[in-house]
Amino acid sequence: MHPMLNTAVKAARRAANIINRASQDLDALHIESKQHNDYVSEVDRSAETAIIETLLDAYPEHAILAEESGRKGQSDYQWIIDPLDGTTNYLHGFPQFAISIALVHQGQLDQAVVYDPTRNELFTASRGKGAYLNERRIRVAKRTRLSESLIGTGFPYKDFTHLDTYMAMFRDMLQKTSGVRRPGSAALDLAWLAAGRLDGFWEIGLSKWDIAAGCLLIKEAGGLVGDFEGNDGYIDSGNIVGGNPKIFAQILQTLAPHLTDSLKSA
Ligand code: IPD
Ligand code: CA
Ligand code: CA
Repeated sequence: MHPMLNTAVKAARRAANIINRASQDLDALHIESKQHNDYVSEVDRSAETAIIETLLDAYPEHAILAEESGRKGQSDYQWIIDPLDGTTNYLHGFPQFAISIALVHQGQLDQAVVYDPTRNELFTASRGKGAYLNERRIRVAKRTRLSESLIGTGFPYKDFTHLDTYMAMFRDMLQKTSGVRRPGSAALDLAWLAAGRLDGFWEIGLSKWDIAAGCLLIKEAGGLVGDFEGNDGYIDSGNIVGGNPKIFAQILQTLAPHLTDSLKSA
């Protein structure tokens, strides 16, 4: 394993310990909802601190972009971190959340870790070296027809700017696929797509830390990732489609009639 990937795995496991330990007290926390939110941000923050400490211990000159603490440093190497992706699920004890850590080197995704602490599933990828679930090589699913495909997505839940557009896309997807799922952790959705558990995925307006690691996993598993017109720039816009090449193309076709100007490629 690449030494930088190894360090990222160590960081993800440290965060997982914090997240798992805190999850044992969720019931008590549900009683006080204010504390509850504070507590969860505390879990997010301490998991993030543990990740950053582990990474910077090994690579003090690397830069960081992390959900809770923002940007730090300048370097050819930048770590992109979501310490807990799927916070709403976590809050409810709904076991679908993950830690997501990616390394970008000179603007290119280079290493990726998505770790699901509930199932002890570790998804990893190094550029040019394939994608793995635990020690096993993973590949995207081989289905070629959208009508037979299981598609993942994320619903708009805090920004409703594109709600009508999203609902029109969703309507079409429901009719053209074999099913649509909204598991609630984008990082894990992309990892599951890489592992062939989902055939495709789309979501509007995700953040870099939600998708950076998952995008490398999909590419290294033989899939395609693009924005709503199939172009690059999805890491910045957060408008993302993924799938094997055949399903990717059919999702783009399905979304095309619904694209407003702000959802088209920049
Ligand atoms: C969220 C999850 C969710 C997606 C949201 C994200 P968070 O991340 O990935 O699946 O639909 O857009 O913000 O807030 O739980 O880290
Ligand atoms: Ca997230
Ligand atoms: Ca998060």
